[in-house]
This record gives sequence, structure tokens and C-alpha cells, in this order.
Amino acid sequence: MALTTAAAFAGERESFDFDWKFKYFGGYDPALAGSAASADSHQGGHPASYAVDGNLDTRWCAPDQKAGHKLMIRPNFDDPVKLFFIYWEKVCNFDVAVTVACKNGKTFTERFNAGGQAAAFIIMQDDPQPIDHVVIAIEGGTSATQWASIKEVIFTGTDNLPITVKNGEGALVHALPTASEEGYKPVQLPHDWAIESDFVADLPNETGKLPWNGWGWYRKYYDVPVDFDATKDRYYLDFDGVMSNPKVYVNGKFAGAWAYGYNSFRVDITPHLRPGQKNLIAVMASNLPLSTRWYPGAGIYRHVWLEKTGPVHLTQWPTYITTHDVSKESAMVKVQTTVANTGSETAEIVVQQQLAGIQATPTTITLAPGTEGVVEQEIKLVEPKLWSCESPNLYTMETTVLHNGKLIDSKETKFGVRTIEWRKDGFYLNGNKVRLKGVCEHHDLGALGGAFHKRGYERKIEKLKDMGCNSIRMTHNPPAPEVLDLCDEHGILVIDELFDIWKRQKYEKVNGYHIYWDEWMEKDVRNFMQRDRNHPCIIAWSGGNEVPEQSAPKNPKRHKENIGIALSLRDEVRKYDTTRPYTVGCNDQQAFRNGFADTMDVYGFNYKPHLYAMFRQMHPDKPYYASETCSCVGTRDTYGFPLRWHVQGGYDETVKIAPFQVSAYGVASTHWGYCPDIEMHAHTLAPDVAGEYVWTGFDYLGEPTPYNQDATIEGNIKHLPEAERKAIMKQYEAMGNKAPSRSSYFGIIDLAGFPKDIYYLYQSQWNPELAQAHILPHWNWQGREGQKTPVMVFTSGDEAELFVNGKSQGVRKRGDGETFRQKGTDSKNNKVPFLDVSKNQFRFTWEDVVYEPGTVEVVVKKNGEPWATAKRVTTGATAAVTHKTDREIIANDGHDLAYIELALTDADGNVVPTDSRKVEFSIEGPAVLAGFCNGNPIDHTSLQSPKQSFFNGRILAVVRSKRGESGMAMVTVKAEGLHEIKIPVMIAPAATK
Ligand code: GAL
Repeated sequence: MALTTAAAFAGERESFDFDWKFKYFGGYDPALAGSAASADSHQGGHPASYAVDGNLDTRWCAPDQKAGHKLMIRPNFDDPVKLFFIYWEKVCNFDVAVTVACKNGKTFTERFNAGGQAAAFIIMQDDPQPIDHVVIAIEGGTSATQWASIKEVIFTGTDNLPITVKNGEGALVHALPTASEEGYKPVQLPHDWAIESDFVADLPNETGKLPWNGWGWYRKYYDVPVDFDATKDRYYLDFDGVMSNPKVYVNGKFAGAWAYGYNSFRVDITPHLRPGQKNLIAVMASNLPLSTRWYPGAGIYRHVWLEKTGPVHLTQWPTYITTHDVSKESAMVKVQTTVANTGSETAEIVVQQQLAGIQATPTTITLAPGTEGVVEQEIKLVEPKLWSCESPNLYTMETTVLHNGKLIDSKETKFGVRTIEWRKDGFYLNGNKVRLKGVCEHHDLGALGGAFHKRGYERKIEKLKDMGCNSIRMTHNPPAPEVLDLCDEHGILVIDELFDIWKRQKYEKVNGYHIYWDEWMEKDVRNFMQRDRNHPCIIAWSGGNEVPEQSAPKNPKRHKENIGIALSLRDEVRKYDTTRPYTVGCNDQQAFRNGFADTMDVYGFNYKPHLYAMFRQMHPDKPYYASETCSCVGTRDTYGFPLRWHVQGGYDETVKIAPFQVSAYGVASTHWGYCPDIEMHAHTLAPDVAGEYVWTGFDYLGEPTPYNQDATIEGNIKHLPEAERKAIMKQYEAMGNKAPSRSSYFGIIDLAGFPKDIYYLYQSQWNPELAQAHILPHWNWQGREGQKTPVMVFTSGDEAELFVNGKSQGVRKRGDGETFRQKGTDSKNNKVPFLDVSKNQFRFTWEDVVYEPGTVEVVVKKNGEPWATAKRVTTGATAAVTHKTDREIIANDGHDLAYIELALTDADGNVVPTDSRKVEFSIEGPAVLAGFCNGNPIDHTSLQSPKQSFFNGRILAVVRSKRGESGMAMVTVKAEGLHEIKIPVMIAPAATK
């Protein structure tokens, strides 16, 4: 039978990244909060209205510590309220009476104890009603240090979203279908609206001091051909990810939505398109406050694609390829293919597969209208080239769909042939044990913010590989799809992670993923798994990170629920793939004693190197790995004196250092973390741990612990003894509670991509065959003459002699000398000493070196033979700007990048590590300056401003090609007081690149 609704397209896919316009409509502000509040009294400067202004930095505070104060809120909206949160200023134990007067005349009062929760909530689950007013009365539980204080009251509607947001969104939707583009500006995707801004001192440190919060609209006109026929053609928009809550409208009509900002999704725009006209495609993104613990980016920050098909076509992620019976001689490749029939007639189609010139037996299926069919085929590969870290061989499966002998759709899928096994003694790839030398990575690309650029991520991978890293844990969310392509191509093993939050709220994040869980979890798992499961790089699925469900609460019913939640996610994941194990990163040590460990195939330990032996005793056969380690902190090329070995908390008053910076000796960490040596030592004691994922490879925007003044850190120090907690909080107060820090100190590599000293420590252990040695600190210490200035060396050798101006400072050998220790926590969360490590086990240390200008030099041996040398000198004055461009020719696709690393150098070419002078950039020709970064976590200059400063002698500039334009682009760099330099970058058509 002839298919009368013949396909107009045999599956065409095109970029939908260009010619957009964008407008930011602002963040949470009083106008959008939409409620009035009054109180019987309040402390000066903290009026009642602050409890409903949508701003978490302000609060209503009672005038004294007595009970009896009342706050009344009158919502200015008629939406039925399902629940509302009272967000207290801090953990409290108030006895509260909440009276709710509904508009239908019903009133009810509920009494409860806030019970130490940062957020208490009232539920009107069964009977959501418009509310006339709410009275919150504080009846007891106050004390001299506990005055009633409310940061925010947030109402949510029947859809579980904050009503304040819905109001704002409603108002904005009105603006959508009009032709007016007032206030809109042209943008190209991927786009992050918040990274364009300067850093804002008053915004929270934790999320990067950037205005990601709020609403933005994107719009674009698209010409639909005159012969477009909605009964025949399908037009799909494929979004790789939109931060967040994207809603897609076509010609003013709602076409589709998603919630989770990190997942990929498809919207069918066919029904709303008008042939022969300009069609308005509009996308709104809205980011809720209190929804994230790091910088999420904002807007359409990944690629968008338009896929055009006929009525019978391959689905969005149509293939699932697995291999079995893999040997040197052969491998069986199984491919399942899903085809959809969205037309109105039954279709008989043929599905074909071709792999390395071999055809599978074609399969014919008949698809009724509105159905999908799955076809399974197999191909035998002879002498397969296995995928491994060293030889990441990939194959391409070519899938075609035919109707009456005519091609109606096709797709290529890359995959690899390899075996993975997690045994109780470690991880095996193709039968060989491979130690996981991994890092955790957040999604942002520093200078480019959340906006994804494939080349930006590839540069990350190149730097990590040079260090000896072989694996990345995608914390704590699905990455852009191209990240996995890159990991396939570069032989990087991946733990692909889905969530940071499940069904239970984490810390004070009232708008975390838990508000979506019930409605979205299954859909998020489906898209994540279908999208990612063909990548050979993925060695495990991680359902989550440090989710509250891991902890067993006292109430056994709740514990059972928690286990149920964990199993529901695991089982959902297993529906889509069972060729890889399922894991979760756990930081509560109870998780391996309370049954939570049994909900996963492989156990992920966050920060518990002292418990590996105990785990093995309790779980003799379970594979495990360190899903998160160290959280060691430091600022590149910045040092504090005197050297302290036990800086858990990252901040020590006795260490003199530049304000809000952390010493780069690599011995400071969070209070729950420890320095790299401790984890390395633990692995020598427990060789069955499959490997580690250091927090983190690169610095990222947000979470600038230890100067992360907000509730994340409070959350993390909650369990500490009162005195210790107070001392930590006092430090924050002393900083005016407004630390300037806006990006992390965790990275082994800084935000710009410049290695910190500990990069060489990891390199020495992870790439031991490389003959290397690195000395720290730098040797420009004017003013420290005659003072003790400890020197360390990171090297892959086993013996080292240090010289200052030719004078030996002594020989160090592996394991010599004093030990140092850091503390862990026991099962009751008490601090206990654990794991003593020699100061010369993983590094070499000379603590008594007295500084004199000149040369510090190390001569390293291995097995008694010369192995490596390193030298640092006291530099002369800055004489020039020097540069290194990663690629001098880039493609003119509008996405390709050149990274220019610049340094201030003296007359001999030594980088001057103490010079942070100003610099200005400009560019001419077919490229733009896409971003800058100097790696300084407290610099508030926009990462897109051409006026920057070097930081400790270095800065990075990123150049992006203009689409379709070729020729020489010229970057001019004017550093204050130095000769201007010009740097060429060639922009060439993609094919000749
Ligand atoms: C971990 C958490 C990470 C990050 C890190 C900082 O506990 O999983 O997301 O917050 O701490 O040390």
C-alpha cells in the first residue's frame, strides 16, 4: 500500500541556535511577591513586609525574645494554596500557632513545633483554597538567643510551584504574542543571561553572586515553507537543556515544557506552525530562588536543534546498542531501534542497520497510526577494536528506515565495544583492573559561565588528562550531550549522575528538585537514560548525591519510605539499562549500616577514607569507590604563613594571607574534607576501593567555601559542637556576612584553567611514569628575607634534594620524617583522629627553609638514578605580556573557540607571580571576545568585560568565531605600563580547519 502521507523529510536536523532575541525580566522582587504583611511589632529595620518580599537576605524579626508576637500575611492573589513554607532565619524550636482563614469563610488553626527545621510548612493538601489571611503566632520556645525571625513565607499552588512565580509568569505571558520586541537584544545560543552581568556584592556567594534568578524570554521568527503540511511533516525542537522550567510557545500557543534545567527534552511544534509565514517561537526560562547549591547558569544555555521528519520516523533517541560475547576474535552487537508512526495510516516499513560495512538482516514491521514499534537486530563484528582509555575506538551504527524502497529516515549512533565489571576488588575494563583516577566536575565553563561550548569542555578534558586523570563524575546532574561524546573520544570513564535532590528537601532549598519529583522523576530518568546509554565512556549510573533519603530517621515509617524512594529511582533506571551498575554518592556513614547501601550495586563514599575497612567488613562482596574526596581548598599562586597542616575548615586566623584567599600549600580543606595525601594513603591501606573522584577538577562558579557565608555551610556545620559552630559563624560575622567570594576554591585547576600547585601532586601519583618535579611556593617574597618560608616539592621521583642559592637544604625520601593527621568523624559524628601520613609520603617538605631572594632548586632521583629537576627564581620586574594560544586556526561555525593564556613576564621570560596589573582587550575581524578569567575567586569584574586585571601574573581570554565569516581576527592586549601586543587567530571554513 502506498503511503499517501509520504514523508517530506528523511530526517533532517539543523542547528536552531542563531537569530534569537532575549530579554531579562528581573529576579524575585517585592512587586512579584504579591502579598502584604503586618505584625504586632518588629525589631527596628526588620519590618513585617520583609517576610514576603521574595528576598531571602531580609527578614521580619520580633522586637524581643518574648513569646506572643504575631505576623499576619494577606496574600494578594486568588490562587488556591496547597502549602506554604515558613522559612525561619535559623534553626529554631519555636512553638507556633498558624491560623489560616480561607476566602470561603473556613478557618483552621494548627499548632506545631518548628522542631529545628530551617523551613516549616503547613499543608492544605486535601483542600487547596484561596486564602484571605494567615496569622503566625509565636507561642513559646523563644530564648535570649532565639528571637522569632522569619526570612520568607512562600505559598505554593496546586502545581507545587511558588505562587509568586506564577503571578510574575502570568504577567509576562501577556507580553508574548505581541510584535513588540522592546528591550530585547540579539543573542546566539548557547546563552547564559547571568554571566553577562558584573558580580553583585549583595547576591549570595553560594550561587556565584550572579543574577541567574528570575525570568527571561527568548524569541525568534522562523520561516515555515508554503508547502508545510501538518498532517504529513513533523517539526520537533530538541533542547539539550534550558535553565530552567522552560515553557515553549509557538505563535503565542503553549507547545511544551520541562522542569529540570539539566535534562534534554523535545517539543513537537508541528500543530502550531503556519505555512508560508514567519512563525514566532518563544521560550521562557524561570529560575526559582532557593533551588540550587551552586551557580546553575540561566536560560537556553545548551544547543537547540530543529528536527524535521515525515509521519513515520525514528524517535528522538531511537537506538539502544549493547554488546555481548566480546572477545579478541569477535563481538555481538545488538541494536534496538524505536520507530514512531505519527501519521493517520498504517505503514509497513523496513529497518536496516549497517556497521563497518556489515549489514544486519533487514526487519520489516507494520506500525498502526499513533504507535511506536521496536526492532531488534544483531551484527557480529570480527576482531573488534576495543574501546579503552588509551585507545578509545568507536564504531558507527548507521540506521535507515525504508518505505516502499524509499529512504524515509536515518540516524548514526556512535558506540564502543568494551566490557566493564565492578568486582569487589575494583573496577575492570576489558578484563584489566583500572584504578579510577577521577574528578568531580560541575557544569560551568568558567569564563563562559553556564553557556556550553564543546571546545571549552574539550580543553578541560585535555588538561585533566595531562594530569593523569582518567575519569569524571558528572556532579550532580546530566551534562550537555557533547560532553559524553568528548569522553568517548578521549577515553575518559564517566559516572553519569542524575540528581542532587530526590523527593526530600535538602537543606533550606525549598525550590529544589523535590518539588518536581512526583510529576517528573520518571520522565527525567527516561530522557537521561535514552539519551546517554550508548556511550561506552559511561561505567555507572549515579542516581544522586548526598540525598537526605540516605539517612535513617528515628521514625521507622519514614525510613521505609526513604528506602522506597531510593528503590523507585533505581528500578526506573534499570528499565533502560542493566549493562552498567547503579550507584549513589553517600556522605552519611549510616548509609552503609541502615540498608541504604542495599539499594545500589556499587557504593559511593563521599569523604570517609577512614571507614573503608569497616565497610568491607560489613559488605564483604560489594564493590565501592570514593565518589567524592578531599574538598581541599586553595587559591592559585597564593600562600599564607605560617604553614599549618591541620586547616580543616579552610580558614585559620593565625595564617597571614590575602583576605578571602586560601593558601595553596594543599593542606587546607573543608571541615568534612582533608588534603589529598589522606585519601591517597587510605587507598594504599584499602586497595579494594575502586578509585576516587576529587572534589573538584576545575574551580566552578558558586560555592566558595570557606567563604561561603550562607546556609550551605551552616547546613554542613549543623552537627558540630555548639562552641565550634559559633566560632565558625563568628568568622562570617567578622566578614560582615558579605564575603566577596563568588567562585570555588576547590579546583585542582583554577576557574581560568591554570593549574594550582596540587595539580602536580595528582600528576605525580596518577601519571607516575612522567618524570616531573614542581616546587612551591613561588620565590618572590620581598619582605620575608630571613623568615621561615616552607618549601614543598611534588614529584614522581622517590628522593629529592633542595637547594637555595646553591646551598643544600637536605635530602628527603619517601615516608621520611614527621607525620601529620587530619580528623574524621565517628559513627556519632564526633571528631576522631584518623590516618596519620608522613609529610614526605606523597610530597617532600622542607619546613625550615629561610627565604633569601635568588633561586630555589630541586634535584630528584628515582631508584637512585637522576629523574627530574625544577627551579624557581626571584623574578625581575615585569617586562612584557607573553601568550600561548591553544589553537591558532578555528572554524567559522560561530561556536568554535581559541583560548589565549596570557602571562606577565620578566626580561628572562619568568612569570611574575605577584603582579596583578590592569589590562584591556579588543578585537578586530571575524571573531568576538567571548569571555575572560583570571582565576581570582573574589574579582567582581564581569567575565565578559574587556577591562580586566591579571591575577598573580596570569589571565585567560577566549575568542569565538563569527558564523560564516572567515579571515584573520586580531586581538589587541594593552596591559598597564607595558607595550601593547597583538595576537592573531585565523578563522577558517570548518572543512579546512
Ligand atoms: C559535598 C557535596 C558537593 C559539594 C562539596 C563541597 O558534600 O556533595 O556538592 O558541596 O561537598 O565540599
